[in-house]
Amino acid sequence: MTLDFPRAETVAPAKGVFIDNAWQPLASGRTIPVVAPAEGVVFAEIAAGGAAEVAAAVAAARAAYEGGAWSRLSATERGRLLSRLGQLILENAEELAALEARDCGKPMRTARADIEAAARYFEFYGGAADKVHGEQIPFQRGYYVTGEREALGVTGHIIPWNYPAQMIGRALAPALAMGNATVLKPAEDACLTPLRIVELSVEAGFPPGAINVVPGYGHEAGAALSEHPGIDFIAFTGSPRVGVMIQTAAAQNHIGCVLELGGKSPQILFEDADLEAALPVIVGAIVQNAGQTCSAGARLLVQRSLWDRLMPRLAERFAALRAGLPTENPDLGPIISAKQKASVEAFITRAEAEGVPVIARGARAESAPEAGFYVPPVIFGPVPRENGLAQQEVFGPVLAAMVFEDEEDAVALANATEYGLVAGVWTRDTSRALRVARRVRAGQVYVNAYGAGGGIELPFGGVKKSGHGREKGFEALYEFSALKTLVIKHD
Ligand code: NAI
Ligand code: MG
Repeated sequence: MTLDFPRAETVAPAKGVFIDNAWQPLASGRTIPVVAPAEGVVFAEIAAGGAAEVAAAVAAARAAYEGGAWSRLSATERGRLLSRLGQLILENAEELAALEARDCGKPMRTARADIEAAARYFEFYGGAADKVHGEQIPFQRGYYVTGEREALGVTGHIIPWNYPAQMIGRALAPALAMGNATVLKPAEDACLTPLRIVELSVEAGFPPGAINVVPGYGHEAGAALSEHPGIDFIAFTGSPRVGVMIQTAAAQNHIGCVLELGGKSPQILFEDADLEAALPVIVGAIVQNAGQTCSAGARLLVQRSLWDRLMPRLAERFAALRAGLPTENPDLGPIISAKQKASVEAFITRAEAEGVPVIARGARAESAPEAGFYVPPVIFGPVPRENGLAQQEVFGPVLAAMVFEDEEDAVALANATEYGLVAGVWTRDTSRALRVARRVRAGQVYVNAYGAGGGIELPFGGVKKSGHGREKGFEALYEFSALKTLVIKHD
């Protein structure tokens, strides 16, 4: 779908593709317009990289990994570079936040938090780089055996548009910490902060080829990267549809992959929940980034006895929410693109047509430009269990509230989607909290809390259609490395 948007007074030109620490122009000269979702105007262009650029990037990474300056650095030196990049991100935080806010439509305070999180990724893995210790394995008499974690080689990373700054940190920092050389394909819908952060990586002192970036369309640059025989591993965050294509391509090349494919994450509220604590978290978990978060708290499961007490209070909060311009720090910004806005609105229209009751709806701020892609937040309920809103990822500010009877029913309902990424359990009964937390199928479960996004230290990933493998935390260092067993015979 190509939609034409008016151009802003100044349009930042495409930088090209980033290979061997330099921007290189595209032979084809093709570019992709970058739209500011809050305004509906084109304000920048990025290069439309393709198979040729991906091949050049993979070759540069291969050279860096095999004998290049990058391959000769110690773990401590790699860690120092990562930490320095984290520092440079912080030093340039205001510029990066403004860029992220315009590119994604995020409220400025959210964009600032995202930049700090991006820095945290590089700091965390900078500190961790030289702390991945090996092991000694007892074996037969006369043998000395060790297990050592080594880099995989050239790792490919395809990231989405919802958190570009955080995602470059989450994707590249652990891979680089382990000594891999990387090729990144950022999302065509928003990738200006990653393109700026790689420039800072040169300033930080990364040798050429360690980080290469090919902006472009998914079906071109993304497909070329995932299918390239020169990569040793691929990490993908995005839709389940593309996730299948990534895993199929990985299978063809006999390489591994980590997939993070979103969710329909439940927050389970028992009748003894602390509502004062829960209410702002429930709202925040679906409104954060306008609901465009893989781990958004998109389903609210409420014990029947609590429903009448909870809903008026939640309705009041939802009705007060405003979607508006990033610079005005509204409750939420716009949806990323006209296409995604139409997709979110289709979910809402369908639910309304099917007679699912609307409990409350926020509004578009009066100052929000007509041409922006705003969708006021809405809470539906009670949503029937088989309804699309109860099952499918909307990726917008749409909360599906549902009723459960007892603990058994709560667990069944929580597990009644194809996804399994994050869950929240709210109760003052700690035994119940633990019982439920252990039975909910998800990669992360929060008790009396919920974290959509944050938590660099916390291993993150899904089960079922949400994907497999773990990123973030120390786990990511294992994901981006392989264990080599060394067997030494002695007298
Ligand atoms: P997408 O899966 O198409 O995009 C994610 C990334 O994959 C982008 O960098 C894109 O360029 C790339 N890509 C697209 N087609 C590709 C291909 N054939 N080969 C390799 N890479 C490819 O997601 P899209 O269309 O932007 O959003 C659709 C839905 O996906 C959303 O409504 C949401 O439900 C889900 N999604 C989930 C995300 C998450 O954080 N788990 C992030 C973005 C989208
Ligand atoms: Mg954009």
